[in-house]
Amino acid sequence: MSHVDYSERIPNNVNLAGDRRLLKALESWQPAFLDWWGGVGPQVFAKNDVYLRTAVSTDAGGWAQFGFVKMPEYRWGIFLADPEPGRVIPGGDDAGKPVWQEVPGEHRNALKRIIVVQADTEPASVEQQRQLAATAPSLYDCRNLFQVNVEEARHLWAMVYLLHAHFGRDGRDEADALLERRSGDADKPRILDAFNQPCDDWLTFFCFTCFTDRDGKYQLGSLAESAFDPLSRSCRFMLTEEAHHLFVGETGMERIIRRAAQLAKEDKNGDARALGGIDLPTIQRYVNYWFAYCLDLFGAELSTNAADWFGAGLKARWREALDYTDHHANVGTRTLAQLVNGALTDTEVPLRAAMNETLRQDYAKDLERVVSVWNRALEEEGSEVRLRLPNTRFFRRQGIYAGAHFNPEGALISAEAFEAMRADWLPTDADRAYVSSLMKPVYGPGQMAQWIAAPRRGINRQPLDFAYVRTDG
Ligand SMILES: [Fe+2]
Ligand SMILES: [Fe+2]
Repeated sequence: MSHVDYSERIPNNVNLAGDRRLLKALESWQPAFLDWWGGVGPQVFAKNDVYLRTAVSTDAGGWAQFGFVKMPEYRWGIFLADPEPGRVIPGGDDAGKPVWQEVPGEHRNALKRIIVVQADTEPASVEQQRQLAATAPSLYDCRNLFQVNVEEARHLWAMVYLLHAHFGRDGRDEADALLERRSGDADKPRILDAFNQPCDDWLTFFCFTCFTDRDGKYQLGSLAESAFDPLSRSCRFMLTEEAHHLFVGETGMERIIRRAAQLAKEDKNGDARALGGIDLPTIQRYVNYWFAYCLDLFGAELSTNAADWFGAGLKARWREALDYTDHHANVGTRTLAQLVNGALTDTEVPLRAAMNETLRQDYAKDLERVVSVWNRALEEEGSEVRLRLPNTRFFRRQGIYAGAHFNPEGALISAEAFEAMRADWLPTDADRAYVSSLMKPVYGPGQMAQWIAAPRRGINRQPLDFAYVRTDG
């Protein structure tokens, strides 16, 4: 089951050949997908050979095969993680009962919505990043961008398979609509606002893959704990691909941070910008912005939707099956600081109502680890500067803290006090203009743009000066 059949038009490990109707429906969606890729996928090196990995099995180790591929010929397919024998519903009212192989009628609309919202982010990010290769800081980075792009497109396939296989006519319509919406389009935008923002510089790309893809990791993780087993298996395999996207973001940021420290040391005034780097205060402002922005993606701190979905078993907590013993979560509370009469006050809220907040805090903890890796790099480079995450209340535009103002430590402050510090805390127009002025392509094998350090090692044990993208056509 874990072996993927590449003799088929749509590579898969779900025995598509055994379901003629489904196969035909997906085969008729495929040309529209390829048109979409050609129209709004990567625009530079669109038809060059790129050193990419392709999934060949869903086994934990060795699932990927590396080789040169022209992106439009990438073998996008449908891969589910192997079934877990005897798997039971991890969380909610029916925890411990057998998982579902089909969608129960009463949860059909909610599950469809959950799948469509997740699915919509996948093509959106490809659209957002379509111009980035024009300013790639190295061929290594250009290749990583393309790997992320083809895998996000494969995530679209993963979700479209679920829509086609389990939601009938409605599901097929939703699959078509996924190719019709466009990131940033005034009439037909993508569903979530974060996926309508342009991504046109590489600091933004690395922030996106570090912070936004990590939100994706936690969303997929909570769906991997779903009672609907095909969704769980789909998300479990997507998570193995997602790990590479997070690696790209985390190490991309680390390399910029390292270079900032090196250049600050070289400059007589300690100014990395004077030597063409991105300085650490600017990086800290980007970290503040992206962290706050992505925290909003988790939804309201108190949410009846989240409580209902948990109760029904549609989603559960991060590592629900492994890390929790009380899978019902209908007794007990969690402490949440809320604004009561204009003052921050700790309140006790029901566990189920706070499921979004629980996932958000798991996400924040994961990023604390990432920032400590960056700070170790700063220490190694002899810098005294340390980066940090702002408090989860800082600069929120959704949920219970939206509308109030907090400093990066999380203290409630006035709007005037916030505005007075805004340019210290958040990227300014001048920061963005400066970062964008640095974006010049570097396409020589092994060469790096001035503002980013070389990676520690190449991809799949290839040397750093390997031509990861064949630029000569
Ligand atoms: Fe994805
Ligand atoms: Fe991703």
